[in-house]
Amino acid sequence: MTSRLQFAVFGQPIAHSLSPRIHAMFGAQLGIALDYRAIESSRDDFTRALDAFACEGGVGANVTLPLKQDAAAHCSSVSARARRCGSVNTLIRDGKSWRGDSTDGSGFLRDLAEHQAFEPHGHRCLLLGAGGAARAVAFALADADVAHLAIANRTHERARALAAAIGVKAQAIGWSDLAAADPFDLVVHATAAGHGAAKFNAPTPIVGTQTLCYDLSYGRAAAPFLRWARAAGALRTADGLGMLIEQAADAFAIWHGRRPDTGPIHAALRHELAASLGGA
Ligand code: ATR
Repeated sequence: MTSRLQFAVFGQPIAHSLSPRIHAMFGAQLGIALDYRAIESSRDDFTRALDAFACEGGVGANVTLPLKQDAAAHCSSVSARARRCGSVNTLIRDGKSWRGDSTDGSGFLRDLAEHQAFEPHGHRCLLLGAGGAARAVAFALADADVAHLAIANRTHERARALAAAIGVKAQAIGWSDLAAADPFDLVVHATAAGHGAAKFNAPTPIVGTQTLCYDLSYGRAAAPFLRWARAAGALRTADGLGMLIEQAADAFAIWHGRRPDTGPIHAALRHELAASLGGA
């Protein structure tokens, strides 16, 4: 019998998730004893795996692909922000049931503010993608009071539906119409297109030298978009490692009531990521 608090991240594939390391580092920093493991789980298996985890004393969990949209069904209550973006990434044990929350949007905004020196307020932003990851970012940017949010997606209807859910400051734009657009202040790549693809392509007028080009992925998955952005002239680029760490810190704060200092974790993981990519 262990007295350490039990946490886990569920997803598939999950073996390479950085979340167990991030939460172990947070716990060590704040002197909180915890176990945080990765549990491989398909959509079919999630109910069984989550129930088993709860029976073993699990008190908190993160949920990632492909389970974020399913997780709400396992919760007795869901935060307003999670309901709005249609996905849950954080589960909190509450008696005999789970509460659901989403820290993706807040983690994204925190990374923009603290690591990219970018304040969305009043800026023109473009979101490429309209899936689950894009949705959290779209609502976060709207909350941060951007002047305008354009959304382009392979399936235009999905972009239109997301823009309609956001409201007046959002507008769906056709991928080919991007060629006639002025440079945006922020371009966020939120499609799954980089995962495995060698090249990313979009009309270059959307990018100017001062455009912050941000990929929600990190490592090899982010490389095609970031390469494209630099070739298009962007001097400011960022991958999603910072967002990953900040959303984890927000989940940690929900579970433990204290938010870790993410600076040292960011520096350590950035160093490791650069070393692993350099050695490829
Ligand atoms: P996630 O939760 O990672 O966002 P998702 O909800 O399946 O996953 O959404 C994937 C996003 O990547 C969508 O915007 C999808 O476009 P469609 O809505 O047209 O499917 C986009 N996407 C996936 N593969 C793509 C590709 N090869 N080219 C362009 N967009 C792609």
